[in-house]
Amino acid sequence: MAKEKPDAAEKTFTLTNDETGDSVKLPVVEGTCGPPVIDVRKLYAETGHFTFDPSFTATGSCKSRLTYIDGEEGILMHRGYTIEELTEKSSFLEVAYLLLYGDLPNKAEKEKFDHSITTHTMVHEQINYFYRGFRRDAHPMAIMCGIVGGLSAFYHDSLDIWDPQQRELSAHRLIAKIPTLAAMTYKYSIGQPFMYPRNDLNFAENFLYMCFALPAEPYKVNPVLANAMDKIFILHADHEQNASTSTVRLAGSSQANPFACIASGIASLWGPSHGGANQAVLEMLDEIGTKENIPEFIKRAKDKDDPFRLMGFGHRVYKNRDPRAEVLKSAADEVLADLGVNDPMLEIAMELEKIALEDPYFVERKLFPNVDFYSGIILRAMGFPTSMFTVLFALARTVGWISQWKEMIEEPSLRIGRPRQLYTGPAERPYVPIEKRK
Ligand code: CMC
Repeated sequence: MAKEKPDAAEKTFTLTNDETGDSVKLPVVEGTCGPPVIDVRKLYAETGHFTFDPSFTATGSCKSRLTYIDGEEGILMHRGYTIEELTEKSSFLEVAYLLLYGDLPNKAEKEKFDHSITTHTMVHEQINYFYRGFRRDAHPMAIMCGIVGGLSAFYHDSLDIWDPQQRELSAHRLIAKIPTLAAMTYKYSIGQPFMYPRNDLNFAENFLYMCFALPAEPYKVNPVLANAMDKIFILHADHEQNASTSTVRLAGSSQANPFACIASGIASLWGPSHGGANQAVLEMLDEIGTKENIPEFIKRAKDKDDPFRLMGFGHRVYKNRDPRAEVLKSAADEVLADLGVNDPMLEIAMELEKIALEDPYFVERKLFPNVDFYSGIILRAMGFPTSMFTVLFALARTVGWISQWKEMIEEPSLRIGRPRQLYTGPAERPYVPIEKRK
């Protein structure tokens, strides 16, 4: 187990009220790496003031041992291992074990974990009928929100969040079943029969099989695609306290069951500023259409009166490079070469990237291509429709969500998350009877 720094606060930060001259010493806490934090938990009791940070640009919401991001340097690490090393040497299920349990598994632990996940991939047969209530043209993320939220109606024996074995069973069930549900969602949307999971295939192979095989003929999984799929899953597995993960933690802090919490994460991920960006990137590239149109879209992205943004550009934390985008770009090259795909979208994407990276607007604001910029191109080449892109993100991120949830529940100081606000509505005023209102 990697050694952690103690969080005993030896340093302090003094805050002085300019009006009264009163000052308060706040503890400063250091993590293993990254900037120290000022512990403001006693601020209100001692000063009568709250902090104000609406989009959490300067707020650490929890302690976590899972993932570290250095946005300036473009570093992403899970439990101390860099994302570059994990995508090159590890596998998605091994990364899932690492995130859930803290260390890489030994051989016996890996076999036991793989076996548990593989033998939980089937879903309750009744769930098949649940799908039939949805319209065939429903967005797959809408189906995923409903189906995953409904899982707690099927797995009553793993809902006690205070029982470590039930927590583990729920975590394994979620990691194992979300790919099956994602594939069923896809099959449902194209009117094809559901394919049951196959235990002789690995995680990524089985997912591709459930999406693209048909009962009427044999299906051979392309190893290049399975390898790229596994990498994509690793790249999306966890990303510390982003919007969907914070949503899962907030939902879980009320002691809601894990299936409900993961459904809340899926809902939060859906938005185009977050996981929905991979779909939005391809829609944008489609709209741009040809290289000649790029300057017009760059102009629109810079225009403050136009809500248009270059999708796949920018990140709240990364201000130099998104390390995931670079791994994805090389995986995209491998897949396109293997499939012999000559996607004109790739050419537009590369030209757009080149122009944006030289434009002072993007340079000054440190806007770089993020993970979603290339993921759409690779997923499209694999045969997924754009509406499924965010579902694949949700599938992989389930590992991060459930690991973060487990970490939070196991924290002895768990309390319900409850932010405060800066109230700007009317002060107290008397009720006016309707006949006297203007
Ligand atoms: N196109 C044009 N301008 C942008 C973009 C963009 N994609 N992103 C940020 N800006 C500008 C923004 O207008 C602002 O300019 P100014 O300072 O003049 O007002 C400045 O850059 C800072 O932007 P912000 O909105 O304050 O940054 P944020 O940290 O709140 O938002 C973001 C981060 C990812 C939501 C945003 O960059 C964005 O909307 N990007 C496009 C959507 C996208 O690709 N999302 C996927 C993120 S990575 C995967 C994931 O985490 O889910």
